[in-house]
This record gives sequence, structure tokens and C-alpha cells, in this order.
Amino acid sequence: MNPLWGPDWPSVKARWTLDPAIAFLNHGSFGATPRSVLDAQQAWREQMERRPVEFLYRRLPSLLGDVREEVAAFLRADPAGVVFVPNATTGVATVLAAADLGPGDEVLTTDHAYPAVLNALASTAASTRAHISAVLVPVPLPRPEEIAELVAARITERTKLALVDHVTSSTGAIFPIGTIVALCRQREIPVLVDAAHAPGMLPVDLEELNPDFWIGNFHKWVCAPKGAAALFVSKEHRAAVRPLVPSHGYGSGLHAEFDWTGTNDPTAHLSIPAALRFMADLGWDRLRRHNHELAGLGRSLVAEAAGTAALMSGDQFGSMSLVALPEGTAATPEDAAALQARLYDEAHIEVPLMPWHDRVFVRLSAQAYNCPGDYERLAAALPALL
Ligand SMILES: Cc1ncc(COP(=O)(O)O)c(C=O)c1O
Repeated sequence: MNPLWGPDWPSVKARWTLDPAIAFLNHGSFGATPRSVLDAQQAWREQMERRPVEFLYRRLPSLLGDVREEVAAFLRADPAGVVFVPNATTGVATVLAAADLGPGDEVLTTDHAYPAVLNALASTAASTRAHISAVLVPVPLPRPEEIAELVAARITERTKLALVDHVTSSTGAIFPIGTIVALCRQREIPVLVDAAHAPGMLPVDLEELNPDFWIGNFHKWVCAPKGAAALFVSKEHRAAVRPLVPSHGYGSGLHAEFDWTGTNDPTAHLSIPAALRFMADLGWDRLRRHNHELAGLGRSLVAEAAGTAALMSGDQFGSMSLVALPEGTAATPEDAAALQARLYDEAHIEVPLMPWHDRVFVRLSAQAYNCPGDYERLAAALPALL
């Protein structure tokens, strides 16, 4: 039996401020921050408000520099290429703005990309007259090497950028990102890895992965306060990448440009080290194993209740698993939203229903504070609501 499900589980859950009345099965959307990390953020805020100018004007660059070193070590990345942005959405938009796309150019992605990222691509396509080429990756998922081949087969001489998820949002799938980046590199296609979910959920090694661009959220699976993401830019692109909002650091190098984009609250980023320490104290390996096993157990319980089959093998998901609803259930996105609202209002379960093409999936997250009872509650409530 996993140690976190044993007698010490309530004490683990109590370290978060989550409402105990809710079975919270949606860590994936926005994360959830432990109390001690929120305390650390509050301590930063108090320092800032005690001497605002000293803090923001004189101390902030070196404080962010220290956090950058820790973040870079965690990601095994060259700190020279690491900058802070508030979230993955901003990171993607930053790279798209630097991509120098023009009429007829193609951006390669997949139909598993995050819907808001697909909107960012659509907006870029509208302003540059570039095309979006979205590879269809079926569910149940093909084997990893087949996924990589599907992506590589769509590269053309017009492909200017590939944008591929490490862990997908709509389907919770782990894509074979190492193989995809290597194939793109071979063909000299710059690749942006949308790793919004990767930090904390999976080990990350950017030196080995060697992406052109990589964006990851720390407010999801590292449990940092909201608004904490890091963008990595490889050496060859550093001169081209600029923050979306130029400010005092303009022309003074990547770090200076991104460290100040106007007055803002930097305490989410400053609290990343506290979050990394908190999670490391729980034990990264133990935690990842716990989350994966629990996501798998939850999937079995909920799939049995829904009467549907498994959609991917154990090595194709991490801390989020996927269950299909029976065909014809919640047939439109509106029906899915209504069912999700009923699960919340009537059964006090926060769980996302993901419309994807003409189907709807239940996406189950598993974090340290979850236990089998959370999924049992969903399995018990679902049949009546379906
Ligand atoms: C794959 C993926 N990309 C990007 C995002 C956007 O993240 P954020 O809301 O932090 O910008 C998400 C959010 O869930 C995501 O799952």
C-alpha cells in the first residue's frame, strides 16, 4: 500500500488549504499551493511592502537571479537561457512573436495542444498569414514511436516551427518529446515544447532534451503560487526573443529584459524555491509514484463505473489519467459543462470533463493530497448522473 494513502494521509492533505468538503480531482488546471508555500510568499510580500523601492528596484534583480539558478538546476538547463514569465500562455505567445512567421509558413502542432494555445496559433496565423498544421493523434493513443512518426511525417519545407506538448491537457497523455525534438532538430525545424505540466510531474532534463524553446509552469505540479512559469530559450535564439512588454531592460540582455516588464508582484516566482523544498521534502520519487499509481487506480474505478475501456497504457500518462464517457453521453461541450457543474454542485467533486473532437473525457488528476476515496466518490456519483 502506498505510504501516502496510509494513516499519514490526512496530515499530508492538511498541509494544503483545500476545502476538505470537495474531492479535488483537478490539480491539472491551476495547481494548488500548500500553506507553507503561501506563508513563504506572504513573507516576501511583507519584505516588499516594508521597503518597496529598495525591494523592487535594488534587490529584485539579484533575488530573481538566485531563483533562476535554482530553477535552472531543477530543469538541468543553462541559467543563461532561463527567464521568468507569469504562465505558459505568455511563454507561448512570446515565442510565437519571435518566430518571424510569414505568409505560407507552417506551424506544426497536434490536435492535443491546449485549446488556448491553439487560439494563440490561430491569432498568429491571422496576423502573419502562416498556416497551422495540426497532426491528428488518435485516442486510444498509438505507441510513442508512432506518435513521433506522425508528427515528423507532417514536416514540409515550409515548416517554420513545431509546437508540441510534453504532457497534453485535454487528454493527459505523455508525448515522446525526446524523440520528437530530436526528429525536428535533424530536419532543422525549431521546436517549442509546451511543458506546462511537466515540472514536478516528470523529471525534466533540458540539457538532454535540447529544445529550441521550452515553457513550463511551476504553479501546476511544483505547487508554487499562481503566476510562476519559466521559459527556456536555447543559445541560437536568445538574440531574437523579447518579452511581449518591453520596459527598462530593453536592449540589456535576456535576463534584464524579462526580469522587469513593468510593476508587478514578483512573489510567485520568488516562492518557487519554497515550493521546490516542500515537494522535495515529501520526496519527488515517492510523490511521482504515488500520483501515478493513484491516477491509475482512479482511472480503473471511474472507467468501471462509466462502463468504458482504458485509453492508454500505464507509461503513457503521469499524474493525470483519462476515462472516456460512454458514447452519446454529454454529446456537446454545453452538456459536458452541465454535467461537470452537477458533479460539483450535487456530489462536491471538482473534476474536468474534456470535450475533444466529438467525444468527452473525464480527466483525473492525482496529487499528494488525493486518496482513493476521492475517486470512489466520483465512481459512486457518476452512474446516476450519466
Ligand atoms: C498544455 C498546456 N499548455 C498551456 C497551458 C496554459 O497554462 P497557463 O494557464 O498557466 O498559461 C495549460 C494549462 O492548463 C496546459 O495544460
